[in-house]
Amino acid sequence: MLKLQSTLITEKEIRARVSTLASELRRAYAGTNPLILCVLKGAFIFAADLVRDMDIPLELDFIQLASYGSGTCAGKLTMKKDACAEIEGRDVLIVEDILDTGASLCYLTEYLKRKNPNSLRVCVLVDKPARRTVDFSADFVGFEIPDEFIVGYGLDCAEQYRALPYIGVLGEG
Ligand code: IMP
Ligand code: MG
Repeated sequence: MLKLQSTLITEKEIRARVSTLASELRRAYAGTNPLILCVLKGAFIFAADLVRDMDIPLELDFIQLASYGSGTCAGKLTMKKDACAEIEGRDVLIVEDILDTGASLCYLTEYLKRKNPNSLRVCVLVDKPARRTVDFSADFVGFEIPDEFIVGYGLDCAEQYRALPYIGVLGEG
């Protein structure tokens, strides 16, 4: 049985880091009315905190991917829910919960590039570089962590634990 083992990132640490990231994003996107694309479901809490801290005019939209277990960029990923907003000419920032193998963000950025945004950047709450199978890096990273399975602050395991206010490690025992 998988159980919560320990707290990896506390609520206070998340709060402080999100606030710093939001300041960086405020400077990067001032005067551009960026389109923030929140990747469902895992990024919903992160994106909600981030956009409120950014405190600049912006547009918010949601996308969702469906994955069929492949680990490569060309693998079996599809759009489950596409963006409603027009992408062409916009300064688009993808907000995602975690960068793991890189397959999802590799697929998503390729998909969005075909819609000709003015700029396209990626902000992830957590990066697990040890797990990468495709060459991908994010423009803005909240926390870099070792190869652990984490839950909380939007992240789930079988749809559980998303509402935890902190990030915990899940493991056997
Ligand atoms: P990637 O395509 O392998 O980079 O995986 C990204 C997706 O895998 C994330 O959006 C999460 O939904 C899921 N994922 C990867 N690692 C974790 C984790 O430690 N906890 C919860 N979900 C994870
Ligand atoms: Mg996800």
